[in-house]
Parts: sequence; C-alpha cells; structure tokens
Amino acid sequence: MSNLEVRRIPFNFDGAEFIWNPENPAFSIMMNQITFLVIGFERYLCKAIRASEPLITDPVVAEEAKLFFEQEAVHAVAHRKHAKALIDRYPGLQDALDRTISSYDQLMEEKPLEFALAYGGGLESVFTPFFKMILDNRDVLFSGGDSRLASLFLWHFCEEIEHRSSALMVYNHVVGRYGYRIKNFRKCVRHVHSIVDMLREEFIKHVPGVPAEHFEIDPLGAVPRLDKIRSMLGVFDSQMPWHNPEKQALPAYYEEWLSHWEAGADVSNIYGKQAGATQ
Ligand SMILES: [Fe+2]
Ligand SMILES: [Fe+2]
Repeated sequence: MSNLEVRRIPFNFDGAEFIWNPENPAFSIMMNQITFLVIGFERYLCKAIRASEPLITDPVVAEEAKLFFEQEAVHAVAHRKHAKALIDRYPGLQDALDRTISSYDQLMEEKPLEFALAYGGGLESVFTPFFKMILDNRDVLFSGGDSRLASLFLWHFCEEIEHRSSALMVYNHVVGRYGYRIKNFRKCVRHVHSIVDMLREEFIKHVPGVPAEHFEIDPLGAVPRLDKIRSMLGVFDSQMPWHNPEKQALPAYYEEWLSHWEAGADVSNIYGKQAGATQ
C-alpha cells in the first residue's frame, strides 16, 4: 500500500516580490526558475503517467501512480499561483511560462511515452540528494525570505522526498529497461538546462532593476562545500543500476515538516519571515 498523502494547501502569493529573499537574491532567482520549470515538467510527467495507466497491471504500482500523479498535479497548481503573482507584477514573464510549457509539449509530441517515463524516473531520482542538501541548509537559504515562498518550496521538496520511488517504480514496471533510461539521461539533463537558461534570459528581459551579479553568482554559495560534494555524489549514485531510492539518506527536516502537518499547523506559512518583513 502506498504511503503517499495528497495535501491541498491554501497558498497565497499575492504581491510576492521577484527577489523574495533579499538575504539571498541569487537563490530567490533559482527558486523562481524552479517554479516555472516544474509547471512544465510536472504537467509533462502527469501526462505520461496518465498515458501509462492502461499499461499498469500491478495494483500496487497503479495505486502509487495515482497518488504520485495527484501529488504532482497539486504541486503544479501551487507553482502556477506563484508564477501568476510574478506575471501580475511583470507581465512579460507570461512568455517564460508559455515557452516552458510548449517545450515540454513538444517533447511529449515528438518522443515516445517511454522517453517521458525515463525523463521522469531519471530526474525524480536526482531530487532526493539535491533537495536534501537544500533542506539541510534551509536556514541560510530560506530563513530570510518571504515565508509564503519558503513554505511553498519546503513543502514541495518534502513531498518530492516522500514520493522519491514513484517515478522509477512506474518506469520499471511499464518500460523496465535500465539501458534505455540511462542512455537518455543526458538528453533529459540537457533539456532541463536549456529551460533553466531560457528562463534566466526571460527574467533578465522582463524584470527590470535586478543587478546583473544576482544572475551570475552561485545561488548555493552559502551551502557548505562538503554538503555540495555529498549531493553531487548522491546525484551520480541515483543513476546507477543498483540505486534504490528507499535506501537513501533523508533530510531530518522531512520528519519535522510532517510533524507540523500532522499537528494541523498552517504549512503555507511555516518558515521564513512574514510577508512585509523581508525588506
Ligand atoms: Fe513535484
Ligand atoms: Fe516529483
């Protein structure tokens, strides 16, 4: 039985700033890129999962796929709210969203379903070591930022860790060829980089007044080097044939976040500075 829980959280990002963490502008920009990217990526993933449904014959995998689909769909809705707040402030950013979505739509059209499932399985496996590094360093990355945005990303990254096995489970059941997945992994990473680079250009074009250096410095500059090395090794290991997402080291924050959720806390506003207190 799947342990995934679909949580619908009433986020509100009205009036959110582009640089929503003035203590870490480059990280704010990186997370804004993630918002636009995940709207396209999770939409793509959801389409692939939906198209896979008739091919799933194991009820355990079917249940996991259903809840995985629902979690990702809820993530995309929340990030759309964030993107809308940014577009309301800088209408040109609609282009950034449209270009992201059309790039994923094109992939869906041009490549077979097994490619989309390989893309999802490969990338979702990267998330646990990458997001563990971010969650472990939440104090230097999020604590000075708008709590509504900090809470959005902390929630999303915790749920990515929660469903860390789902995409691989679906890929292994429906396609099952490790060689195919690994052969295409570089193409998937290149595609992600092309979107991230495009978003950077769109941000520079449509958001005036952001100093150029905020787009150039390392957004993870405040993260200890050892944590970055561990994360990189984890990313490398995540693509190995023996990799089992269930056995990965998890961030302590996942359990902490879960305890807040189970206690009924307002997780839409749980970390960082209250809106209006970030300037
Ligand atoms: Fe997600
Ligand atoms: Fe995910």
